[in-house]
Amino acid sequence: MLGALLVLAFLPTFSWAHWSSGPWRTNATYVNDNSSVAADPYVRWDANTAAYWAYSTEGADDGWYYGIYTSPDLSTWSKIPGGAIKNDSANVWAQDWFWAPECYFNEKTGWYFLFHAGRYTEPKLVAENFKYPDFEEASKIGVAVSRSPAGPFVEIADKPIDYYPFDPEYHDINLLMSPPYLVPPASLDIGDTAPLGTYIPSIDPNVFWDDDGSIWLFFSRNAYRNWVWSDEFDRYIEESNIYAVRLDDKWWHDPHARTLPAVHESFRDVHKGQPEGWVDSVNSSYPGPTRKDGSVPVISYKLQPQAWENAHVNDHVASNGTLKNRRWSEGSTTIKRYDSFGQPVYFLTYSANNYESPDYGVGYAYAHSVAGPYYKSGSNPILSQDASRGVYSTGHGSILASSTNPAELYYPHHARPDPSADRYLYTARFSVDPDSLYVGFGADEGDLRLPSGVAPFSISASPLADAGNGTVSWNVSVTAASGAAFDLTSPQNRVWAEVANGSVASVDGSVVTVARAASGSSVKLVYQRARSNATQPWANVVQFQGLGQDEVTVETEVSV
Ligand SMILES: *[C@@H]1O[C@H](CO)[C@@H](O)[C@H](O)[C@H]1NC(C)=O
Ligand SMILES: *[C@@H]1O[C@H](CO)[C@@H](O)[C@H](O)[C@H]1NC(C)=O
Ligand SMILES: *[C@@H]1O[C@H](CO)[C@@H](O)[C@H](O)[C@H]1NC(C)=O
Ligand SMILES: *[C@@H]1O[C@H](CO)[C@@H](O)[C@H](O)[C@H]1NC(C)=O
Ligand SMILES: *[C@@H]1O[C@H](CO)[C@@H](O)[C@H](O)[C@H]1NC(C)=O
Ligand SMILES: *[C@@H]1O[C@H](CO)[C@@H](O)[C@H](O)[C@H]1NC(C)=O
Ligand SMILES: *[C@@H]1O[C@H](CO)[C@@H](O)[C@H](O)[C@H]1NC(C)=O
Ligand SMILES: *[C@@H]1O[C@H](CO)[C@@H](O)[C@H](O)[C@H]1NC(C)=O
Ligand SMILES: *[C@@H]1O[C@H](CO)[C@@H](O)[C@H](O)[C@H]1NC(C)=O
Repeated sequence: MLGALLVLAFLPTFSWAHWSSGPWRTNATYVNDNSSVAADPYVRWDANTAAYWAYSTEGADDGWYYGIYTSPDLSTWSKIPGGAIKNDSANVWAQDWFWAPECYFNEKTGWYFLFHAGRYTEPKLVAENFKYPDFEEASKIGVAVSRSPAGPFVEIADKPIDYYPFDPEYHDINLLMSPPYLVPPASLDIGDTAPLGTYIPSIDPNVFWDDDGSIWLFFSRNAYRNWVWSDEFDRYIEESNIYAVRLDDKWWHDPHARTLPAVHESFRDVHKGQPEGWVDSVNSSYPGPTRKDGSVPVISYKLQPQAWENAHVNDHVASNGTLKNRRWSEGSTTIKRYDSFGQPVYFLTYSANNYESPDYGVGYAYAHSVAGPYYKSGSNPILSQDASRGVYSTGHGSILASSTNPAELYYPHHARPDPSADRYLYTARFSVDPDSLYVGFGADEGDLRLPSGVAPFSISASPLADAGNGTVSWNVSVTAASGAAFDLTSPQNRVWAEVANGSVASVDGSVVTVARAASGSSVKLVYQRARSNATQPWANVVQFQGLGQDEVTVETEVSV
């Protein structure tokens, strides 16, 4: 008990170094639950604010795009009011489908970059990027910038990045189809009569900085308008695939962040003149693009078929003609490691199947060169639905390390607690072994260990003004080692108040109120975490430094 009081009172300044050392440990745990609506989450540790930040397709307030959440511990999240990009801010170039943001920070220039997809629907803009004014689903990638991880982010320019990805070998069978574009030609022979060449709609950006200084953009070729013939199923299947392209790096080094990213010259206009007979524009009122840039195919069924990606290839008949036959792979994240021979290994996680279905899951592929070839793992999918645990539609995450240990990796992603629920932010431990070319996930259910660097916790209480009604209140704050405060209204963590003689205190988020009648007694404020066990939902948190030291609860005492 003495230890407890010492820790609590003196935590920020008191040094234990004389008799105890090693990292702080805590038995605080977290539970993946439905507290934060999030889709396609991208999460990073931000040293400037000493907190984790999450960016999501969903979760923004009206009038904003992209939800932003912040967390001291990678598990209890507080929503930032608004969102990342204000709808009426300058340069918002897309009309809709603002999807899958990722945020990167340049330490040298102090700018935060938010990459995201957006869709053009205005025929003139659609044609300028995709040749046809009625091109179905005209998605492009844009970049907005901010001085703060909390935003607001403002688009660098009123247009997407300077990149016109083009596929000269695609027979554009969409030109043979009619809205609602559910029924492709019945045979490859018919499909092959379609004109060659199409611009590629792009979504799901993931920027990768290689250690030779080159910057790469991984993205997904939007499924819409990408029907691929399958001999195996004797039909066209609408696919999304993953591609990579090298970016120029002027934008990254611009001290004013006013330079829009552009494709690297080695990929610029490499399909110039292809295919033969190409006409830039189909309508003089709507000029088409004149550039035709390259890309490297990274993940597709054609490059390497895996049966788990076939969950929706029969959807058209199964839905009585209301859905397309689909096969999607998207939402990639790439990281690099070296094996014990010093050989580089690039690991790429991706999500396959329809995000709306419970089958959405995660697989991975590896390569020894950034542009591939990438080999899918035979263990795929490595993260997928499990009805016995009530986890569905797992996917589209990102990879990050804990704030204090670069080797301790996590994969925040989205999942649904039942097949028709919204998508929520879940986090699982992630392991990588370049020697065995292995990537794996830890548990995402039950009581999960907090990341390193969160403990030790500190708790403090400051008296609030006398309400004059016979009560006395304190504003309580619990902070992580980084100094970042916990949201005490979160369903994951709370402060519990114990009044010495057993009279009842009330706790409302961070505010603890006690009857003034309890004058002279003391109130103990204890930090607790939610447990997955419904019969014992709250548990005191204990922490200690090094091994063999007494565990102490995170508590403080106030007198009435
Ligand atoms: C969240 O989970 C709780 C507990 O399982 C449940 O009672 C509640 O209905 C869920 N809320 C949403 C919005 O899914
Ligand atoms: C953004 O503004 C446009 C034009 O007023 C409106 O159509 C659209 O619904 C708005 N979107 C959001 C997310 O507020
Ligand atoms: C070009 O577009 C205009 C405006 O939508 C339309 O009136 C015209 O018929 C189109 N011309 C052709 C050749 O499609
Ligand atoms: C399937 O669609 C057809 C045509 O729309 C309709 O007549 C039929 O009743 C539908 N069948 C089922 C089982 O929904
Ligand atoms: C006294 O006032 C405080 C602050 O307004 C309020 O939270 C509390 O519920 C009130 N208590 C009573 C007994 O009225
Ligand atoms: C409690 O303290 C926090 C942090 O200083 C502050 O943001 C909040 O407004 C305070 N709450 C009350 C009820 O005073
Ligand atoms: C606790 O003490 C206060 C006064 O100090 C008194 O009003 C209250 O009734 C006591 N509660 C119990 C359960 O003894
Ligand atoms: C939940 O916790 C209680 C108390 O520790 C224990 O008796 C019970 O077996 C636990 N239930 C489960 C499902 O773990
Ligand atoms: C932490 O350990 C204490 C003491 O052993 C225990 O009472 C408490 O339930 C544990 N808390 C958690 C979150 O496991």
